[in-house]
Amino acid sequence: MTITEQSPDQSNRLQFPANFIWGSATAAYQIEGAVNEDGRKPSIWDTFSRTPGKVLNGDTGDIACDHYHRYRSDVALMKQLNLGAYRFSIAWPRILPDGRGAINEKGLDFYDRLTDELLQAGIKPYATLYHWDLPQALEDQGGWTNRATAEAFVEYADIVSRRLGDRISSYTTFNEPWCSAVLGYGLGIHAPGLTDPALQVAATHHLLLAHGLAVPVIRRNAPQAEVGITLNLWSFDPASDSPADRQAAEEGYDLDNRVYLDPIFRGEYPQTYLNSLPDGVTVPVQPGDFEIMKTPVDFLGINYYIRHVRKAEPGVVGGEEVKLPGIYTTMDWEVYPPGLYDLLVRLNREYPLTKIYVTENGSSGEEAPDANGKVHDRLRHFYIQEHLVQSHRAIQEGVPLAGYFAWSLMDNYEWAWGYTRRFGIVYVDYSTQQRTIKDSGFWYAGVARDNALPDTRVTYP
Ligand code: FCB
Repeated sequence: MTITEQSPDQSNRLQFPANFIWGSATAAYQIEGAVNEDGRKPSIWDTFSRTPGKVLNGDTGDIACDHYHRYRSDVALMKQLNLGAYRFSIAWPRILPDGRGAINEKGLDFYDRLTDELLQAGIKPYATLYHWDLPQALEDQGGWTNRATAEAFVEYADIVSRRLGDRISSYTTFNEPWCSAVLGYGLGIHAPGLTDPALQVAATHHLLLAHGLAVPVIRRNAPQAEVGITLNLWSFDPASDSPADRQAAEEGYDLDNRVYLDPIFRGEYPQTYLNSLPDGVTVPVQPGDFEIMKTPVDFLGINYYIRHVRKAEPGVVGGEEVKLPGIYTTMDWEVYPPGLYDLLVRLNREYPLTKIYVTENGSSGEEAPDANGKVHDRLRHFYIQEHLVQSHRAIQEGVPLAGYFAWSLMDNYEWAWGYTRRFGIVYVDYSTQQRTIKDSGFWYAGVARDNALPDTRVTYP
């Protein structure tokens, strides 16, 4: 990794293209709280977080950052941070508390108010329709393993995009469908906590189908807005130069990345994935599904945090993960910025992409305010800085990267980790709900203001 030192002649300054979008991201269940208010009914995360042993300390999103009540001051905070855009998600169980059927106007009103507040502050709203909080009523009928959930999603997308329309700059259908399918139905680490490969395969298919079905509906309701999807993608490196390790890394890329990318951009699953299905597990394809999945999108959102390093293991498609020495965050995630560059360049080479956003990138770290009320989160500052260096490099090589969203605006509910992992550029004291801008936040505000990485860089450690 290149660690840039301070240079007196501004030669390190990296200017980003005009109109580059600087934002931050959050998700409904992670920040809103107010889970029983104004007609909202439970989502799978309300159920899961209450299931003993599933979430660290039994933490729930009941209160979270109380953003439902504090959205005005949170938007003011974004303005103070010079953000040009805000990526948030809409809670399906607020809009359609039973998943389908009766619309809860009060739920829509909340996002209407939030959207207006953002527009008044000159901040572009980037709305994600699904960031994992499926109405529990739909899960009771099989959730994403049930094809009917894809139809329910289209109804929900229709209702939201009719109400918010073109006031939203950018609609994202799904955030990280890999996590919903694999962590939710395959590994049981996320809601709904199931562990069945057949369910994982069905969920994957129906999430992709729901995405493709919803895109034209959103376009019809919001013709000026862009529509896309956000995937969590990794770069994959072989542990050695051996052909076997190289193959393992490629298989890993196929199983985790191409399993979403190929249906969306090519209308097919990668062969590695189809070959890897356990005996008796089949993809529930119906005629026309792949045509629907490859409905053109306006952008691809990428959430990048880490790379994978793989070594070959006989009989294991995708090999085995190897942990290399390096800098690791409190999530035990390796800090590997060049992986973002590798990924961006590869994606741009392999798919017809016209616009890419980094919709999430950031570091956990549990720093707290010091005696002077300052939060010195040097690792986070370093992490974002180095990923921006790599983003800039990719742009120089022709990658159509149009924006970057720091995960996250503020510390929040980190799913199965509860409140024990902090990703914010703003610190949240959960007992008082006081927000404190961290050092990384002040620095990021300068980047957003100047549309450039300053000459002065931090090093780490
Ligand atoms: C991503 C999620 C986001 C947050 C970050 C750390 O996978 O989309 O909600 O949890 O990881």
